[in-house]
Amino acid sequence: MRLLLLALLSTLTACSPVVTTNHETLSSPDGTIALTFQLDEGVPRYAVARDGVELIRPSPLGFVLKDAPSLTNRFRVVQVQRVEGDETWKPVWGRAAEIHNRYNQMEVQLRESKAPRRKMTLAFRAYDDGVAFRYVLPEQSNLGTVNILSEETAFRFGDNYTAWWHPVDYNGDEKLYRETLLSKMEALNTPVTMRTPPGVHLSVHEAALVDYASMTLVPVPGDPNSFKCDLVPWPDGVKVKATTPMKTPWRTIQIADRAGGLLESHLIENLNEPCAIADTSWIEPMKYMGIWWGMHIGKETWAAGPTHGATTENTRRHIDFAASNGIRGLLVEGWNKGWDTWFNGATFSFTEPYPDFDLPSLAQYAQEHGIALIGHHETGGNIAAYEEQMEAAFALYEELGIHAVKTGYAGEILPKGQHHHGQWMVNHYQRVVECAAAHHIMLDVHEPIKPTGLCRTWPNLLSGEGVRGTEYEAWSDGNPPEHTTIIPFTRGLAGPIDYTPGIFATTFPKYREGRRVHTTVAKQLALYVIIYSPLQMAADLPENYEGQPGFQFIRDVPVTWDETRVITADIGRHVIVARRKGQDWFVGLIIADSSATFDLPLQFLQPDRPYEMTLYADGKDADWESNPTSLEISTRTVQSRDRVNLRLARGGGAAIRFRPQ
Ligand code: NOJ
Ligand code: CA
Repeated sequence: MRLLLLALLSTLTACSPVVTTNHETLSSPDGTIALTFQLDEGVPRYAVARDGVELIRPSPLGFVLKDAPSLTNRFRVVQVQRVEGDETWKPVWGRAAEIHNRYNQMEVQLRESKAPRRKMTLAFRAYDDGVAFRYVLPEQSNLGTVNILSEETAFRFGDNYTAWWHPVDYNGDEKLYRETLLSKMEALNTPVTMRTPPGVHLSVHEAALVDYASMTLVPVPGDPNSFKCDLVPWPDGVKVKATTPMKTPWRTIQIADRAGGLLESHLIENLNEPCAIADTSWIEPMKYMGIWWGMHIGKETWAAGPTHGATTENTRRHIDFAASNGIRGLLVEGWNKGWDTWFNGATFSFTEPYPDFDLPSLAQYAQEHGIALIGHHETGGNIAAYEEQMEAAFALYEELGIHAVKTGYAGEILPKGQHHHGQWMVNHYQRVVECAAAHHIMLDVHEPIKPTGLCRTWPNLLSGEGVRGTEYEAWSDGNPPEHTTIIPFTRGLAGPIDYTPGIFATTFPKYREGRRVHTTVAKQLALYVIIYSPLQMAADLPENYEGQPGFQFIRDVPVTWDETRVITADIGRHVIVARRKGQDWFVGLIIADSSATFDLPLQFLQPDRPYEMTLYADGKDADWESNPTSLEISTRTVQSRDRVNLRLARGGGAAIRFRPQ
């Protein structure tokens, strides 16, 4: 119902099918991007150009199958159908109030020219912000069961671009990104983001990953700057097990003339199905605190014992603090029995609280104080144990009025041999999303399958990790200052990131000597604007926020936006993002391991209108290493014609709020 109401404008114009040549071009609506399909002696290939410059050279498409001939050659074109799509839809939450979905589509129906004469369709779309394509294998008598050994999709890039990538890992994306030339790139997880010498930015990923394996990329030996799809396998080596009719996820290539264009793109969400949840009124983006950081720094424990974090008393203290500071959510980890089995077979109970955690009374106490409790399901990777209890576990939370759950998959997947990113787990993550939706529960998935825009269809899939987040600052060498200037343009293009910012006590020698956060406090604040998530954590301990004027920014900053504009960005160096909520604007500026001065133009503000600007900036002597907590807060009146001169400290940042006066 909501969907119908929200489809402000939707047109899908079909043109009559034409029998074609072996060479077809599809242009983006604005004509800048051209995707070319060609059939070379029966082998299907595609190429992509922007403003006449080839970004992807003719690259093969097809499948190698188990116990069946490959679907890679001997094709002829049966027909080509062209369609134009143009709709504007309103997300339940997001980076913009409305999203324009405008594209040209071309479906190329192929058939083998010799027996077994199987059919395969390639659906191509050209948008103003990139291209996408997917394979469709229709139901057919000579192709029923499909066991894919290899998807042959290749990406033969036009030149030796600069790239941001992390090495392949079938189990996750909690990595630091590398900046290298394509020629130095090894096997990798997507998204991978690139810059051409003239400054065009592109990023390869996928959309609508459903009942299929995740795509990784591997270099093609002997073909410089060429990479090939390598799907995450099942334990027996098969990549995807399916029956026709079937379709693959979309292979996506986002393209923009500047880094910021990638961040403003909605291509991946646009390629997903519309919202499948009829009544979304219970879906509530929010900021949250947690009984969480204390465990990571070693102040408290997940398991019951003398320093157990999730006690009734400690939870009440957190509820009181969140309630008096206008933070809506509270995550409690370590509430349930089984934490002593973590990483050791992981047999958690998802319905039985530890004796010192009075779940029903806390649910009531939270409700009375206007706090939304966020439940926690750490599976440790033991999927069978979780699936057995999942229904009852969500039902319990629903009954208690708890509408959000953070899930976790920290550990090797059981059954052994399955991977976090394989088809079997893709299907598990999807079952959880749908089961949660049936119980009116929103999800924040840690150790997730990488996002592919499914939150358009299932907006209860609020956020997720799949990134090297703040937790690494507590117990590892941490996240170097450039990390957060890269992840918005890599992992962040795929979907919301639960990065868990907001650490004010950047060292914690009382609990863990030698570990630290690698930013200034001003940069921690800026991350709420830079990194998008409809769930944003105020991750530090309540006592570290007590009496801190900088905490006001966390109280004020929204988690959904009407408009997003990237002012400027140089991946790995600095990022400046402006986001609007109603009449208010918020700006975040962050920098890597250097200091710099920026002259921020305020043209995004409405002209001839005074705004109150509250600036949270690095102090004059701030430096992420030697003086991270030096923060200067100031307020003044500005207008759109003004510029604000800002000095960002090494590893620093600034967070700004503009309110019309
Ligand atoms: C890893 C998650 O990323 C973290 O947030 C959580 O606290 C632990 N697993 C325990 O579930
Ligand atoms: Ca994690």
